Amino acid sequence: MNLEKRFAMTRREFVASSAAGLVAGTVSGVRPGMGISPPSDQNSSHVSRVIIDTDPGVDDALALLLAMRSPELKIEGITPVAGNVPLELTLPNALRMVEIAGRTDIPVAVGAKGPLVRRLVTAAQVHGENGLGGAVFPEPTTKPIAQPAAEFIRDTVRKNPGEVTLITIGPLTNIATALSSDSELAGMIPRLVMMGGSLSGGNITPAAEFNIYVDPEAARIIFQSGIPITMVGLDVTRKTSLTDDHVRVLQAAQNPVSQAAARIARNAIDHTRAQGFVVGPNMHDSLAVAAVLNSSILQWKEYYVDVETAGELTAGETVGYSPNAGDDRRRPDLAKQAAMAMQIRGSAPTLASTNTSAVVRDKFVPNAKVAVDVDSAGFFDLLIGRLSGRL
Ligand code: BDR
Ligand code: CA
Repeated sequence: MNLEKRFAMTRREFVASSAAGLVAGTVSGVRPGMGISPPSDQNSSHVSRVIIDTDPGVDDALALLLAMRSPELKIEGITPVAGNVPLELTLPNALRMVEIAGRTDIPVAVGAKGPLVRRLVTAAQVHGENGLGGAVFPEPTTKPIAQPAAEFIRDTVRKNPGEVTLITIGPLTNIATALSSDSELAGMIPRLVMMGGSLSGGNITPAAEFNIYVDPEAARIIFQSGIPITMVGLDVTRKTSLTDDHVRVLQAAQNPVSQAAARIARNAIDHTRAQGFVVGPNMHDSLAVAAVLNSSILQWKEYYVDVETAGELTAGETVGYSPNAGDDRRRPDLAKQAAMAMQIRGSAPTLASTNTSAVVRDKFVPNAKVAVDVDSAGFFDLLIGRLSGRL
């Protein structure tokens, strides 16, 4: 189906087709032995309460617009954090997005200026000095709320235990700060859906994905918190590239969100092209939002994920342990036994260490559902459809 036809689909048709997918079991789209059912999620009739933690950021900006255009989400708040650019820019960028979407009813709470224990490393080379790829929007007039982000997250979750999903699309400093301030909080969070990590190499170093790299200590707190984690990492987000056709569809739609999205997208593509890339920028963060809206566009596999914090060259690497150590060549009956017996093993202890065992956990218990494949066309149908106002 060509793009024009794809976007000729109405909101009603889209909802019907997603719901049909859910019912028909195309949801999992999982190869036998490889995957799991998708994270218990949302279908079109269910409204999810969410907080979005973000560092806008070109792809964050589009992800925020997507979320604000999605009736399945009740956005309790937006919590900007330092990341792609400093907080002095991510905060007004988030406020700009709520203004553009006409959603100044959503509280925006000021987050951390920098990682827990490290100096801030930004990605202005990717997102432009203003964080929006050089696309300029007026100064926001909307003010953030007085409560800082970590407190806002804690209070909102505490007032609604088991109800509020966290969508994190930046470094995890705000969330880690909230969890560290309240030992019961993790148990009240039903799910954290993150854009972050990778089991197939990094983008800021060969080992680490940017969001985890910026604040690995914070990320480790999250992965060890017991919160059910849905990880949408580079393994899948690298398969989502924005194209000129997408921009044309956005430009053609005459509404403030599509016009703003088109400007940000146009700048981002031009910037990527000027750097010599032959494909457009990845829509990392929108894919995490899309995973909440319709998880059937992704395929999933369970892992125990931990974060490297000590590595001189590898800090921020997400290490994914899977049953059978990812080796699917065993007979199924023996594979099952091996999975049951699998230990989580770290580095060999040094001679100087008092700890003599390399085993850090006695058995494999997954802590994350990791996206391992994506229907990229289906994702862009959703993203561009929502931003253009067609869906
Ligand atoms: C992530 O890093 C940031 O640059 C993007 O906004 C995204 O959240 C991708 O690695
Ligand atoms: Ca981001």
